[in-house]
Amino acid sequence: MPMTPDSQLTLLFSPDLIPNSVRDALPSDLHVRPLAVDDYHRGHLEVLKVLSVVNDPGFDAYRAHFESMLPANTSASKGQTYYVISIVSKQTDKVVATGSVFIERKFLRGLGSVGHIEDIAVSKDMQGKKLGLRVIQTLVALSEKAGCYKTILNCSDENIPFYEKCGFKKKENEMAKYA
Ligand code: ACO
Repeated sequence: MPMTPDSQLTLLFSPDLIPNSVRDALPSDLHVRPLAVDDYHRGHLEVLKVLSVVNDPGFDAYRAHFESMLPANTSASKGQTYYVISIVSKQTDKVVATGSVFIERKFLRGLGSVGHIEDIAVSKDMQGKKLGLRVIQTLVALSEKAGCYKTILNCSDENIPFYEKCGFKKKENEMAKYA
């Protein structure tokens, strides 16, 4: 099935926020855009399985979750907290890579904001083609456009070289407490 145009999709945020430099750097058969509500049917959760356990909540719950991330005014970049992106195949309309950044609003640094990158996943057969790099470049651009003074993430030791290639530096340690 050929790719559904952005104009026919319900997107999480305005596609105008995606940098043209990333669009131009992608292979011509791939397209980067905000997550669409029906990416549920395009394999979004399948792609995330390369990263962790994914339990299928069903489309209704997925849609309600998506809608809870929409700001009151989707045309404004200010006020948006959650940015999730999809890279889709123009031939199959399937999601092949995804990632997210959420904007934390702080009281320090003059009421500054920090972008937290999470859940970067490239489908197994598409890894090693710079899609992970393009996802990170897009998310950092979104974070910076939202006014964040830094963008941070947690990762395993084996992914450190990937994030270094994306321009990140190791700082401090991650602590976790599971429920
Ligand atoms: N070790 C060393 N170098 C690496 C690694 C690695 N594990 N992964 C990528 N690189 C290098 C590539 O060789 C490339 O280098 P080059 O520019 O010199 O050619 C550069 O990093 C960019 O690599 P991409 O091709 O963009 O990587 P890819 O598209 O495969 O995406 C990713 C990397 C996201 C880690 C992917 O392999 C994946 O989905 N893995 C499974 C899930 C995962 O671990 N996700 C990250 C979790 S951390 C988080 O979500 C915050």
